[in-house]
Amino acid sequence: MNYKATIKKKSFYIGLLYLLMSTMVLVGCETSTLSELAESEEEPDPDPIALVTYDNTAKAILDNACIECHNTVIPTAGIILDSFETARAVAESGRMIARMTSTNNPMPPSGNLPNSIIEDIMDWIDDGLLEN
Ligand code: HEC
Repeated sequence: MNYKATIKKKSFYIGLLYLLMSTMVLVGCETSTLSELAESEEEPDPDPIALVTYDNTAKAILDNACIECHNTVIPTAGIILDSFETARAVAESGRMIARMTSTNNPMPPSGNLPNSIIEDIMDWIDDGLLEN
């Protein structure tokens, strides 16, 4: 065997080895992606998009910021926000968000609540004014 033929043979085997290795890498990737997919299908979603409801979000906000002036005993301006039914009616009428976002006449009168809190009430409305 001459020198040139040996070099050719060597590079052929190196090429073959390289091809084999890249195939293994590709197959390896595909396998792990498939098993990851299979896994995610089996397990329940750890972070489902939760609906905002009166019980899980809105009630606490209204209790903290509104009911001292708008309750069954003291229904200031005819607004009662200490029960689901009455709070839903005010939210449905549009007056709750109108006053919570008002800059010249905000509710509570002490000043607008943080945007994230107002957005929680908007989400409650968008999600269909659910009780629980
Ligand atoms: C410190 C007492 C106080 C608090 C707390 C308060 N309000 Fe009021 N609210 C009033 C008063 C007084 C009025 C009537 C005067 C006016 O409209 O500005 C009123 C009026 C309103 C009206 C208007 C009613 C109409 O006929 O248009 C809405 C709606 C309202 N409040 C919602 C809220 C909401 C929602 C909150 C909590 C985020 C809240 N209020 C917190 C005192 C309060």
